[in-house]
Amino acid sequence: MNQINKLLLCIIFFSIACGKTDQNKHAKEDILKKGPELYAKYGCAVCHSTDGKEIYGPPLNGIYMKEIKVVRNGKELILTADREYLKKAIVDPRFEKVLEYKNKEMPLTQISDEEAEILVDYIIALDNKTQSEK
Ligand code: HEC
Repeated sequence: MNQINKLLLCIIFFSIACGKTDQNKHAKEDILKKGPELYAKYGCAVCHSTDGKEIYGPPLNGIYMKEIKVVRNGKELILTADREYLKKAIVDPRFEKVLEYKNKEMPLTQISDEEAEILVDYIIALDNKTQSEK
């Protein structure tokens, strides 16, 4: 195969690969790299496992789109853990609390909107991983 053909194959491969990840807001490689970095930087891992183990807070794998019982202003609600819920849980942990963990505290993190979005993508990606491993 000559050089030009190789180059063309590369371009085709990358456009397909990028096209697929474009559905997400952040490219997949980006989340895979930045997600764990932020997760470590902000100490999320100190309280949340990503493999279902109980540390202090709830494990963060397998929660995306699950029904979660929360307490907000003293009232119990059942919510779906969609993007919006996850992001709110990260940027404003006091807004509502997971019922089962209502006596535990998640500290407020000074985190940018973009970083919160990446962490949400990271949590969702954890879930895809667990599902495909089943
Ligand atoms: C000191 C421990 C601690 C740290 C650090 C911490 N959390 Fe939490 N987190 C908790 C506890 C406890 C809860 C459950 C109570 C609540 O909802 O406030 C929780 C709840 C959550 C939830 C909702 C989970 C669910 O099952 O509905 C998400 C999402 C979350 N944390 C993400 C994060 C991320 C991302 C970070 C890092 C930026 C982080 N947390 C840092 C303790 C922590």
